[in-house]
Amino acid sequence: MSESTPPRFWSRRTFVARSLAAGAAVTAVGLGAGPGCRAGTGSAAPRLASDGRNLLPMAPELRPRDALLRAAPGMRDLGRGVQAPLLLVNDALPSPLLRIQRGETFSARMENGIEDPLILHWHGLTAPEDMDGHPRFAVPTGAHYDYRFEVNDRAGTYWYHSHTHHMTGRHTYRGIAGLLIVEDPAEEASLGLPPRERELPLVLQDRRLGEDGVPVYEPMGPSMMNGFMGPEALANGILDAFTPVEPAVYRARILNGSNARIFRLGRSDGRPLVLIANDGGFLDRPYTLPYVDVAPAERVELLLDFREAADGERVMLQSLEFEFPGGMMAVAYQQGRPLDLLEFHVSGRTSDPGTIPTSLPTLPELPDPARSVRERRFEFNSRMMMHNINGEEFEMDRIDTEVPFGDTEIWTFVNDANYPHPVHLHATHFRVLERIGGRAEIYPWETGRKDTVLVLPGERVRVAVRFTDERGLFLLHCHNLEHEDHGMMQNILVV
Ligand code: C2O
Ligand code: CU
Ligand code: CU
Repeated sequence: MSESTPPRFWSRRTFVARSLAAGAAVTAVGLGAGPGCRAGTGSAAPRLASDGRNLLPMAPELRPRDALLRAAPGMRDLGRGVQAPLLLVNDALPSPLLRIQRGETFSARMENGIEDPLILHWHGLTAPEDMDGHPRFAVPTGAHYDYRFEVNDRAGTYWYHSHTHHMTGRHTYRGIAGLLIVEDPAEEASLGLPPRERELPLVLQDRRLGEDGVPVYEPMGPSMMNGFMGPEALANGILDAFTPVEPAVYRARILNGSNARIFRLGRSDGRPLVLIANDGGFLDRPYTLPYVDVAPAERVELLLDFREAADGERVMLQSLEFEFPGGMMAVAYQQGRPLDLLEFHVSGRTSDPGTIPTSLPTLPELPDPARSVRERRFEFNSRMMMHNINGEEFEMDRIDTEVPFGDTEIWTFVNDANYPHPVHLHATHFRVLERIGGRAEIYPWETGRKDTVLVLPGERVRVAVRFTDERGLFLLHCHNLEHEDHGMMQNILVV
């Protein structure tokens, strides 16, 4: 599809017909459906349910203890019977899930087997500056980068992705993105959360497929301004995904790994979601909500309750339709359009369906706005197909903001333009204080500790920030990856 052609919206009929065609082809070569067992990754064709949906794959798990993460080109059938050329870490899609306990040493070697320079960033973790994946550390093809640091972050759902300047969008879109889970038995053991077998780590991403069924990435024309979006959804790297569940409570750890698209998560059966955690770990208490918004790079942990579901019931996790101020263009390019993400097939019976906890661990101390010694303002703007912060496009060697270690400051993120900006800060978590203009409120998923916050057109969001762990050069940027790649990023030096 050329960049001047607007994306096609597939009708439900085309969609079903294509799924069935793919289904028939795969069944013909003798692959069983096998609901009830979890698919591994690997280059085998996806496994199908009788209605043509593909079994949700689970990323292989890796302990980051002398681990090897090798990024290289690879091929994958995304679920419609077509092999797509991708960039894979350890030949896995999504990239391997890294699981580590708080207090342990993270040690891994990244080997760059792709044709571009590469560096990986551990999004949400507080790592020393040379371990944080700043783009100035990108290594050439054939080289490697060794990571070693102690993980002191709270239990939670973090993630990792390429942070090569000008290429983050393409690398992430092509497959270099995975979850990183920090566990802390001291924090989690007594909560009565669902066991590991009922944990669902989910990487949700939108995609645009070309005529040949292969995802295209051509962020030209309007996509340069809106960011790159598509009308299809990948759940853990597969299209049209389903997963079998028992009538029990599940813990979904969800990453919006899209380049630009915001999801409004909701259930097709109208039952509520129970939100327990976001970017910075557990919230102060569980929140029962009709929907939860997740912008690119944000994470949420949801308890999905199927205890009342009937045997054979199907429940879709969807991105619900929403409107926001500021742009017909963005809507035309999928922002806010409804999308099916993952279907749950409820069956079986269990003697231990689990419960919904009534309380969560006490939040750690958050930066106190009353102790702020300084205010700063960051304006997110666009001009001439480029994006900037306070009028400046990113430069690798220019220090934009110097922040004294340990000081509490209040930062205001200003969006007077037409595109949503999920604003992300490295090396600490912040506390969202206030949203002025636009939606004019703070939502439950924005409470607690955050590393990314959505600033819609017409909004200013005030946050309290304090760097208490590392000194050095870090980043503040928009996590719309096309915005980031085209300048909307700045160097923050913590001194
Ligand atoms: Cu998730 Cu600087 O990035
Ligand atoms: Cu980050
Ligand atoms: Cu942006």
